[in-house]
Amino acid sequence: MNRIDRLVRLNVRALVPYSSARDEHEGKEGIFLDANESPFGPLNRYPDPRQRELMAAISKLKGVAEENIFLGNGSDEVIDLCYRIFCNPGTDRAVIFPPTYGMYRVSAAINDVEVINVTLDKDFNIDIPAVTPLLTDERIKLIFICSPNNPTGNCMDPGRIEFIIRNFRGIVVLDEAYADFSGRPSFTEKIALYDNLIVMQTFSKAMGMAAVRIGMAFASPGILKYFFRVKPPYNISTPNQEAAMERLGDFKTVAIQTETLIAERRRLSEKLDEIPLVEKVWPSDANFLLVSVRDPDAVYNSLINKNIIVRNRSREIGGCLRITAGTRSENDRLLDELKKIRI
Ligand SMILES: Cc1ncc(COP(=O)(O)O)c(C=O)c1O
Repeated sequence: MNRIDRLVRLNVRALVPYSSARDEHEGKEGIFLDANESPFGPLNRYPDPRQRELMAAISKLKGVAEENIFLGNGSDEVIDLCYRIFCNPGTDRAVIFPPTYGMYRVSAAINDVEVINVTLDKDFNIDIPAVTPLLTDERIKLIFICSPNNPTGNCMDPGRIEFIIRNFRGIVVLDEAYADFSGRPSFTEKIALYDNLIVMQTFSKAMGMAAVRIGMAFASPGILKYFFRVKPPYNISTPNQEAAMERLGDFKTVAIQTETLIAERRRLSEKLDEIPLVEKVWPSDANFLLVSVRDPDAVYNSLINKNIIVRNRSREIGGCLRITAGTRSENDRLLDELKKIRI
């Protein structure tokens, strides 16, 4: 048994997965009387459980072999599957680096997995001396790294990420939801090097398809075989697979929109810096800015009153709001309203 199999929960290792009608017969032509579907269309048939067409298109776009790709109902499903596959409830643990994306903690709680918080350092980077003693702890099965990180916006230092992947005996889940806005190389290039690495990306951010709920996991086949075993058979609907295919067919537009958002993020950052109630705009590799303001609750509520909704993150990071880059005119409205606020 290899080291990845040994990390998997015993019941998952022994699991005989559900075999769906579409698994047992793959052809598209014929009289289908095998899945208790209605014969009346157009959405009467179950989706392709392996999402073959979409998988092939993603493989081409990302330059990653199909055997290294798994698609979830959003990254949130991938996160949940990580816990369900690797963590024994009530026994195993996961490490996260707060302030970070909230679902790592919530999904852990749902699965009765204890979370160890290793707070980011003052530059919002990984505190290597603090995490090093945990890397050999047998009860820690997962380490979640978010880069670029939500809500701080910065990329984690790649050398520190690689140090953790190399020295951790468990699985490293690297969440690259915002990577398209960073201009930096993706760690998908390294999945052949490290059998304990899962890189997550999503259709929800630069792809502009949060509504279709498609998350991607890139990893070794030795890891992904368990994801295919545990996932609900039809986890991505046909309309959603088709919508994603259509978007990939017009990738030029996605690329233009991504560049536009990066330019808007830069412009917004510069303009925010000039507003007196703004104390600090943190550097960002994502499509949002972490902004420290005087009296964040008052600013947040004033904006709500003007029908501009930002995220109040001041409970996690003192004084901070998280502001997503919108269209140029949306950002101009935000800037105008911020200039009018008197505190
Ligand atoms: C870092 C990070 N990962 C994952 C997600 C969720 O991705 P999905 O929409 O694919 O579930 C988010 C959503 O905000 C996020 O910020």
